Amino acid sequence: MPSSQRQILVTSALPYANGPIHLGHLVEYLQTDIWVRFQKMRGHECIYVCASDAHGTPIMLRAQADGISAEELITRVHKEHERDFADFLIEFDNFYTTHSDENRELSAAIYSKLKEGGYIDRRTITQAYDPEKEMFLPDRFIKGECPRCGAKDQYGDNCEVCGATYSPTELINAVSAVSGATPIEKKSEHLFFKLSDFSNMLKDWIHAGHLQDSVANKLDEWLEQGLQDWDISRDAPYFGFEIPDAPGKYFYVWLDAPVGYMASFKNLCDKTELDFDYFWQADSTTELYHFIGKDITNFHCLFWPAMLDGAGYRKPTNVFVHGFLTVNGNKMSKSRGTFIMARSYLNHLSPEYLRYYYAAKLGAGVEDIDLNLEDFQARVNSDLVGKVVNIASRCAGFISKKFAGELSAEIHRPDLLQQFAEASDNIAALYEAREFGRAIREIMALADLANQYIDENKPWVLAKEQGREQDVQDVCSMGLNLFRILIIYLKPVLPAMTASAEAFLNVPPLTWKDCQQTLTSHKINRFKPLMTRIETAAIEAIIEESTTALATDNNAEENSMTESEADTKSPLVADPISDEISFDDFVKLDLRIAKIVNAQHVEGADKLLQLTLDIGGETRNVFAGIKSAYNPEDLEGRLTVMVANLAPRKMRFGLSEGMVVAAGPGGSDLFILGPDEGAEPGMRVK
Ligand code: 2FM
Ligand code: ZN
Repeated sequence: MPSSQRQILVTSALPYANGPIHLGHLVEYLQTDIWVRFQKMRGHECIYVCASDAHGTPIMLRAQADGISAEELITRVHKEHERDFADFLIEFDNFYTTHSDENRELSAAIYSKLKEGGYIDRRTITQAYDPEKEMFLPDRFIKGECPRCGAKDQYGDNCEVCGATYSPTELINAVSAVSGATPIEKKSEHLFFKLSDFSNMLKDWIHAGHLQDSVANKLDEWLEQGLQDWDISRDAPYFGFEIPDAPGKYFYVWLDAPVGYMASFKNLCDKTELDFDYFWQADSTTELYHFIGKDITNFHCLFWPAMLDGAGYRKPTNVFVHGFLTVNGNKMSKSRGTFIMARSYLNHLSPEYLRYYYAAKLGAGVEDIDLNLEDFQARVNSDLVGKVVNIASRCAGFISKKFAGELSAEIHRPDLLQQFAEASDNIAALYEAREFGRAIREIMALADLANQYIDENKPWVLAKEQGREQDVQDVCSMGLNLFRILIIYLKPVLPAMTASAEAFLNVPPLTWKDCQQTLTSHKINRFKPLMTRIETAAIEAIIEESTTALATDNNAEENSMTESEADTKSPLVADPISDEISFDDFVKLDLRIAKIVNAQHVEGADKLLQLTLDIGGETRNVFAGIKSAYNPEDLEGRLTVMVANLAPRKMRFGLSEGMVVAAGPGGSDLFILGPDEGAEPGMRVK
């Protein structure tokens, strides 16, 4: 092993095995994959492991609701995730599962070392219990009225309407969201990890490492407030690992989830020459990095290092925290069609467009990133197709046709090529620091220079002039050498396009140091278009595929929720009130009284009714997701309020020309009818 070669183990957060991967998840997997590919190109040993996060109450209940075993559910979802990741060119060295023998053994071993160290306490606590379902209820599965404002259907320990925080036992008329039964209070013995024993160690670790400043500051705040013991056990029924010395009790999913990083690596070691202990022993000289979202910082920067320390293992070298994704400036929303699943995207567009766009937007901070769909299309088309691929397509034809694919023996502008090669250290430093957006800006500035060089030398004009053959070959060869260096710099982001470019340039897989070499007197292959433009129709098709009329089906939000979130967030609120719009946006809404002149079922639609609405001399066809609340015959002749100036939307069943305004949490509680008296179709509502 060369002395400069680093040995790096990298992880991304383990996705819950109960729902599909969406574009929000992909921020992290793409960020990590780009970083890992960069390290590999630099010649380091960099191993990227991940796994399905397969345990916990939501997974157990989801399987029950689907009428299958938890094992069946996690196996099916694991395969779907694996396919989505592979199709987004995310290249794990191992994608395993937390429901594995390796994880069971490692979790038990860590627990037993923590116990030997005196870090585990047992004490009895009182919790809400569903007497019908015979299970303890996590906060998320209790709903009732807010004790402060009386809002109905509030989940967990805070009110989405007035923001009050409370204990779930304070909810008025609380019911179990699992069975509808009234929860009772029940005592049970739980196991606790004494986190506060690690306060000093954590203080040092937070400041000795290279954590992002905002992350270190947040952790300091938590440490100052004092660390609480952490409840690591759950009572049966629970889908997880039974605790060896506590029959009927299971490790809380968040105990065995991070151990899943080790277990996935262990599984890889058993298939290869890699040495598990070498990477995980307390004094390991290898590097360990976890990429995570900001919502799970406490698990990775407090509980996890404490567990590792208490059990005698090494701690992470760093935890890289990123922000969330917004789409068109808002939280992803099913009603707007911006809650986009990985598969819906892949059905219409190549993964590399998104890889590029995310890279262009990502920095090393914890700020959220926005996928603006218009900007996405414009940027990819202009940068990748208009600038990078354009260089090759402007030069390749001449070389193939006029020079039998042979590049010149000389470099036309060594100074310019040198400038490209010299950018390598700066671009590498930006990749290393996860400043991908800045790296992309540097690369595109070089692409501009390459295009400028071609514009100035005009091979298409030279080709028409007598005796300028050599110049044509020299200029086009120079252009392709510049293109080759750009491709090296973009390779971590665009692995598939790079593979096509390598085939075209007739070179073996490019590594980072190849940017110091030149291609002279070298035979290239025939050029095939490396990338085509993003068409508006493809983006529209993705939105259409992702649009659900009204927020009546919230499975995706529910599934994508982390268990930590799950304890505090209502699964039924699709777009929380925090999605602010300006007053100017508000006045744009043209709300009209509409008479429902016809209402009917829609064949093949589970949730929709088709409404014909009269807004005073004009009728509109609207598909509304209100079937769970209304029979069509009860609607005819009644008045409702519609958004009359919403752009028509093509849906699977036809064109929807507006939306009716509905209130309520969903299901049978959805209200669209207003008082009929005194209102006339077409009247403005303001
Ligand atoms: O928040 C989540 O989606 C969790 N499934 C992440 C687990 S990461 C690790 F700790 F396992
Ligand atoms: Zn309230």
